[in-house]
Amino acid sequence: MLEIHSLVSGYGALTVLHDVSLSIGDREAVAIVGANGAGKTTLVRTICGLLRARSGRVLKNGVDISQTPTHDMADHRIAVVLENRRLFGELTVRENLLLAERRGRGARKVFDWADIYALFPMIEERLETPVNLLSGGQQQMVAIARALLLQPNLLIMDEPSTGLAPKVVKDILNVIKELRGRGMALLLVEQNVGIASAITDRAYVLALGRIEHEIQPGAWDTFLKDERLVKAYLGS
Ligand SMILES: Nc1ncnc2c1ncn2[C@@H]1O[C@H](COP(=O)(O)OP(=O)(O)OP(=O)(O)O)[C@@H](O)[C@H]1O
Ligand SMILES: [Mg+2]
Repeated sequence: MLEIHSLVSGYGALTVLHDVSLSIGDREAVAIVGANGAGKTTLVRTICGLLRARSGRVLKNGVDISQTPTHDMADHRIAVVLENRRLFGELTVRENLLLAERRGRGARKVFDWADIYALFPMIEERLETPVNLLSGGQQQMVAIARALLLQPNLLIMDEPSTGLAPKVVKDILNVIKELRGRGMALLLVEQNVGIASAITDRAYVLALGRIEHEIQPGAWDTFLKDERLVKAYLGS
């Protein structure tokens, strides 16, 4: 479904990602874990076309999308929830979602408004509220809902739980589990390995812009118990 070959990327004179390769299968949920500054967000930005790779290739279902601009990612059934969410703050929840729905038109429909309300009951109650007036957790829910209305089969999320209250994190994790049940492939960038291990099958450990370790299916517990590995790669 997604294949990344020898990606090199960075900002100006700074090379952040060095020869990063990874893959995600159909319906698979994969995490990228790593310490602050490891390059996780840079990887997401490069995959989704916000940052142009210096070299390497990104393939979605065999199609090279390395040169695809971010606003065309939906054509390849990829949706991204970025760190800062990038919602239109002055617009209402409904308006934000309508923009995504329009963009997702033409794709095979997986999610409709009823699905969105079922996943996030809060959205139905706050449709006419400007996004700026919502809490951080509510905004994150709108950001995920917007991504789903693009009708993706791969959802990429950059630290969706950061800065949110435990109850909200739990709600969002339940939604992600539900999406997995519906066959969505997931690339989850997450510094919190407890969260990553709860909702993904396996993971890549990114350290200083390189994939230094792979956590295979069923091996989360072994990794988490290995203090040396955890300290070396995650710094805590
Ligand atoms: N816009 C930018 N311009 C220049 N350097 C940047 C920019 N964004 C990030 N960097 C640098 O790239 C490196 C990787 O940053 P990145 O944001 O990808 O890390 P991260 O793993 O997402 O960290 P965090 O867990 O804190 O979100 C850091 O050294 C950072 O200073
Ligand atoms: Mg980041």
